[in-house]
Amino acid sequence: MDVYAVVVTAFWVMLPAYIPNNAAVLAGGGRPIDGGRTLGERRLLGDGKTWRGLLGGWFAGVTVALVLTATAPDGSDLLGVGLPEFPLAVALLFPLGAMLGDICASFLKRRTGRERGAPFPVVDQFDFVAGSLLFALVAAPAWFLDTLTPRVLTVVLVVTPVLHVLVNALAYLLGLKDEPY
Ligand code: CTP
Ligand code: MG
Repeated sequence: MDVYAVVVTAFWVMLPAYIPNNAAVLAGGGRPIDGGRTLGERRLLGDGKTWRGLLGGWFAGVTVALVLTATAPDGSDLLGVGLPEFPLAVALLFPLGAMLGDICASFLKRRTGRERGAPFPVVDQFDFVAGSLLFALVAAPAWFLDTLTPRVLTVVLVVTPVLHVLVNALAYLLGLKDEPY
């Protein structure tokens, strides 16, 4: 695979993990997942993690994975790259892993005394990638090793934090998000 193919594949594969966080911002609101419960002095997760955000983000990610799978053959012809399809288990669990990674990060943020919305550099940029990759690995190990080759993974790890910062800054400028990170 040349560099072009590696980069295109990395974007394609990660879209169902990138979309849920952004969809959660749009879908979020209503009942917090922790139901207001606390652990020690602080909230378990906080008001920034809601059922609507979780389900909306998950649903959006699954939809993206299914659409990408349906369009992979045509997309491959168009882009001249053999684009991967998402097995059903991956389509379902990959975006869920992204949302749960983000939720685990909020749990960690509260335990380390960070208020809702406080920045947690590195963790904020990688929580959803770690969660989604872990879930994909467990859901379909053979597919994972075949698709997320060391070179594709390298691009994912380099591009993800940059994209995360840019997209969140854009969402902030558009008034969709309270903080630019
Ligand atoms: N959101 C949600 N449910 C989720 C994830 C996100 O409703 N499971 C929405 C919330 O409105 C949240 C916004 O998306 O405020 C931005 O998400 P994020 O930055 O992850 O949450 P924060 O508000 O920064 O909270 P935390 O400090 O816990 O990360
Ligand atoms: Mg935040």
